[in-house]
Amino acid sequence: MKAKISYTARYLPERVLSNFDLEKMVDTTDEWIRSRTGIEKRHLVGEGEATSDMCTMIAKQLLEKSGKAAEEIDLILIATSTPDYMVVSTAALVQDKIGATNAWGYDIVAACTGFVYAMETGSKLVESGQYKNAMVIGADTMSSIIDYTDRNTCVIFGDGGGGVLLEPSKDETGILDSILHVDGSGSKYLTVPAGGSLHPASKDTVEKKMHYVYQDGKTVFKFAVKNMADVSKRILDRNQLTGDDIKLFIPHQANQRIIDAAAKRCGLADEKVFININRYGNTTAGTIPIALDEAVESNRLKKDDILLLAAFGGGFTWGSMLIQWSNK
Ligand code: UT7
Repeated sequence: MKAKISYTARYLPERVLSNFDLEKMVDTTDEWIRSRTGIEKRHLVGEGEATSDMCTMIAKQLLEKSGKAAEEIDLILIATSTPDYMVVSTAALVQDKIGATNAWGYDIVAACTGFVYAMETGSKLVESGQYKNAMVIGADTMSSIIDYTDRNTCVIFGDGGGGVLLEPSKDETGILDSILHVDGSGSKYLTVPAGGSLHPASKDTVEKKMHYVYQDGKTVFKFAVKNMADVSKRILDRNQLTGDDIKLFIPHQANQRIIDAAAKRCGLADEKVFININRYGNTTAGTIPIALDEAVESNRLKKDDILLLAAFGGGFTWGSMLIQWSNK
């Protein structure tokens, strides 16, 4: 038995930060940001709004769209690198906020690949036959770990998330295949150095700005171009597919130039590549499920269409997933 995506949802906070706003905050230009990344604006949470709030909005939409009661949800998986708390998972907070009294769940930390990792976990649990209604959500409040005086990082990231309901498929459609990787030797190139058990929060860590994202952009860029392209091409090859067989490619939205390189390597025409980085920036675990919900909303997926997902991120982590679209 396969697992299928039956419903999708997304949430973007109201507040918008444009490139022109950033020009007033750091030494940057709209032209630099657009030409180097493809980003024009990004959304940021409001005062007091956290990752669990965004995930709860997404979870409530999934309940509303599916017509299911919260009690029917048996699993909640949340991919995030920006949980509300160090201890108490975001999944636990969401379970309580929606009243999913029969669910269990936990958070998955795999940076920008988090949603694909969570989909792999969720789909395997549904395929086991033990779980019938699994919520898989990817969301990040990147603004909580970004230094808005550092032009190397603050122009790239945004807040937001999306999610899906996974159910047992009634036919051969659903999640077909996946390839996932982790390589911790890349951990130093993209990280938040303090706040964990190695460097607990202290006056010193705060003064040294160690609670913000540190990124060696050039190294991450090279890694991403190679590995997102490779892992996308490999999943096509091992399923005897080419770019012509793919209806839609939803890549992690980190940089337009990285997406273009991956699409080219797979022989995918521009119109098959879903792009929304211009509107949201990099929302980390949120990019793929946000794009997926927008694709569904604009009727870009019909039954049996083949969808390719691909992501890379801190860790390093990277992976791809092949899905044959199902009816609800
Ligand atoms: O989801 C995973 C998360 N991370 C990524 O995917 C990031 C991958 N990396 C990237 O997307 C790119 O490396 C960046 C967008 C981060 C940077 O683009 P780049 O083309 O690699 O620029 P660069 O780092 O080589 O910097 C070129 C110049 C530098 O100035 P000098 O040394 O040539 O004088 C930077 O200081 O651009 C400067 N620069 C900026 N200038 C204006 C760096 N950031 C900015 C900025 N505005 N915001």
